[in-house]
Amino acid sequence: MTITTLDTPSAKPLLDWYDRHHRDLPWRISPGMAARGVKSDPYRVWLSEVMLQQTTVQAVKPYFEKFLERWPEVTDLAAAENDEVMAAWAGLGYYARARNLKKCAEAVAKEYGGVFPDTEEGLKSLPGIGDYTAAAIAAIAFNRQAAVMDGNVERVISRLYAIEAPLPAAKPLMKAKVALLTPSGRPGDFAQAMMDLGATICTPKRPACSLCPFRDACQALKSSDPELFPVKAAKKGKPVRHGAAFIAVTGEGEILLRRRAESGLLGGMTEVPTTAWTARLDGETSAAAAPFAAGWQASGTVIHVFTHFELRLSIWRAAIPSPVDTNDGWWEPVTNLEAQALPTVMKKAIAAAIPFAFKTSRA
Ligand code: ADE
Repeated sequence: MTITTLDTPSAKPLLDWYDRHHRDLPWRISPGMAARGVKSDPYRVWLSEVMLQQTTVQAVKPYFEKFLERWPEVTDLAAAENDEVMAAWAGLGYYARARNLKKCAEAVAKEYGGVFPDTEEGLKSLPGIGDYTAAAIAAIAFNRQAAVMDGNVERVISRLYAIEAPLPAAKPLMKAKVALLTPSGRPGDFAQAMMDLGATICTPKRPACSLCPFRDACQALKSSDPELFPVKAAKKGKPVRHGAAFIAVTGEGEILLRRRAESGLLGGMTEVPTTAWTARLDGETSAAAAPFAAGWQASGTVIHVFTHFELRLSIWRAAIPSPVDTNDGWWEPVTNLEAQALPTVMKKAIAAAIPFAFKTSRA
């Protein structure tokens, strides 16, 4: 890989654009302030970055506000009950991140006296903080010269240099290009400007090239079609797993819930009883696998896509007069489901059986 500074465009048009068109986001300080010594709050930056790995800026905003209101400092989050944090996270998905979020807060509180380390290396030593998050916090919260790469930045850089090598193999080359382009004075603003550009102008489809601050420098625009970048290696489909979920509703409007094992996927979260999720098509997905005998009725199939597989859950519903004694779990009023640490897949399963279970259903 040969990288030279000769073909490196100036970051100035991008920073000028960011000064005028940046998105106002609750975890940000105004452009240019970091260079004048105004400090971002590393707790806010870290929290937002972890949440933004899950979903969009719009979806994160209410979660971010809720977390800050309940746990204004990292030490408050460190002292919180695990279940409360899980319940507040529910809907954002991928619970391993929420568990690591809590562990990270505890490590900052205990090992660093409540103060986030201010280098990429120090940040990477914390639970749940990988290359991307460490670089983002170092640049945005501490104005360090870190090369921040996420999907938006990959798209912008691959177009700017018309990088033909496919992702993910091209990542080191892209990172080297971003490192060269990152200006020493405003690395945090630069990183966020690249993200904003990718989100609003340099979009995957129909990019608004005429409005782009890099329109004069962009190799893809000059010689090709920006939409063709980034080049991606052909994708394999996700494996499919099958299972069944059982929603039993009493005459008083309670449903049977239980807690998942601490370790593994969705560990420690709340669920309705389900079978194992198996890759075998002949896995047990019938009413015979229900936690107790009742008039189970088929209520459709819920499909949920996890990071590593797609789950197809057969939904079974039974109306029963009163709670049945089971070894495992508890009976919860349907009116109280919003307060439970139910992952999205479980909300979908319950909503398939009880359409009005969630008033503001995000499922
Ligand atoms: N996506 C991930 N981090 C972000 C940030 N700091 N600003 C906007 N979008 C982001």
